[in-house]
Amino acid sequence: MLVLNHIKKRFSEQKPLKGLKIGGCLHITAETANLALCLQAGGAEVFLCASNPLSTQDDVASALREEFEIPVFAKKFDSRDEYYKNIERVLMQNIDASIDDGCDLVVTAIENWSRWGKNLKFGTEETTTGVQRLRSLERSQNLKYPVIAVNDSKTKYLFDNRYGTGQSVVDGILRATNFLLAGKNVVICGFGWCGKGIAKRLQGLGARVTVVEIDPIKALEAYLEGYNVCNLESSLPQADIVVTATGNKNVIDAKHFNLLKDGVVLCNAGHFDIEINIKALASVANKRPVEGRTEVEEYDLEGKTVFVLAEGRLVNLACAEGHPSCVMDLSFANQALAIEYLAFNHQNMEPRVYVLPEDLDSQVAAIKVKSLGLGLEELSEEQKEYLQAFKYGT
Ligand code: NAI
Repeated sequence: MLVLNHIKKRFSEQKPLKGLKIGGCLHITAETANLALCLQAGGAEVFLCASNPLSTQDDVASALREEFEIPVFAKKFDSRDEYYKNIERVLMQNIDASIDDGCDLVVTAIENWSRWGKNLKFGTEETTTGVQRLRSLERSQNLKYPVIAVNDSKTKYLFDNRYGTGQSVVDGILRATNFLLAGKNVVICGFGWCGKGIAKRLQGLGARVTVVEIDPIKALEAYLEGYNVCNLESSLPQADIVVTATGNKNVIDAKHFNLLKDGVVLCNAGHFDIEINIKALASVANKRPVEGRTEVEEYDLEGKTVFVLAEGRLVNLACAEGHPSCVMDLSFANQALAIEYLAFNHQNMEPRVYVLPEDLDSQVAAIKVKSLGLGLEELSEEQKEYLQAFKYGT
């Protein structure tokens, strides 16, 4: 994680986060560990909990606790109760800043503001769904402090959501099923940044990809990219694999179950486990684990078998290791710079949702380009003048 390392080196010299207590509700992966160590190098005290009960890498959590004295309140397979208790444990540390992935930490703080929120001054948010929730808090005037939507930096969504999710979702499906993807009919619900990446990678492996969208612009984009585009009802009877990546709820719902093909695999890449209505499926079908395949469950649905990966939770983090560090480098460099920016500027900011200033976003890309050894052209004086002028026509 060369960009993050670059920032960490500067942080350890300048200590811009000295005296700050930072609480992170993030997937506990090796990449998150590097972010935590970067913030610690900047002088902050860091406390972590998980942003999903299935995404914790227990070895990473132990290493952070034992070797780096960073309290991590999380273990893989935590129950929902334990998950929220761990968020409370982080809030009990009187944190000054929050780094959230999905907005559960912020919402818990706001709902218990007099108890745990009083010290909170600023925060950041990692993912699309979290930003959606923050904007809802902002609209209803319930947001209590400024938050930078790291997800909305170009060096985040264009790379992490698209290439990171694209590759790691395929990785998760393969580790869980060991399917041959060539020739499989795959339906992808949602053609946003994540959906685009997943579709491209699956198509590259020979899958026949169908995109299901609610937005006509996205549907048109998908069509011109060469995918089949149709509604869910028409696409399900042929589907061998269905992937949801919408950030929306009950995308695969009870009314769709009778359309599913025998042996279909259902999985989700969206932030929460609400995109496939697993409760409704469990109420009409008997469930059993699949021997020798962790994170795969088999539902017997009136004689048909339906496989569900990772209980409908993020397939790339539960069945694989999440995004590779090369791409998390960009996202977490954004996180580190956003926290530094807020540490110096939060007093002049409203309790609103902000994006990272564009020069910092570009800085992340510039360091990455350099670290990858890529060449860049520079504008000549003549070109700069041309781009600013109106007078040059035909
Ligand atoms: P996005 O907003 O770019 O795309 C979502 C798309 O889903 C939109 O085009 C929307 O029109 C479509 N959609 C909404 N409801 C739909 C429905 N019922 N049927 C079909 N399409 C529907 O969002 P993005 O960035 O692609 O994120 C999607 C989800 O993935 C979010 O929950 C986000 O937090 C999560 N995410 C997961 C990651 C992972 O590692 N698995 C990484 C980054 C984001």
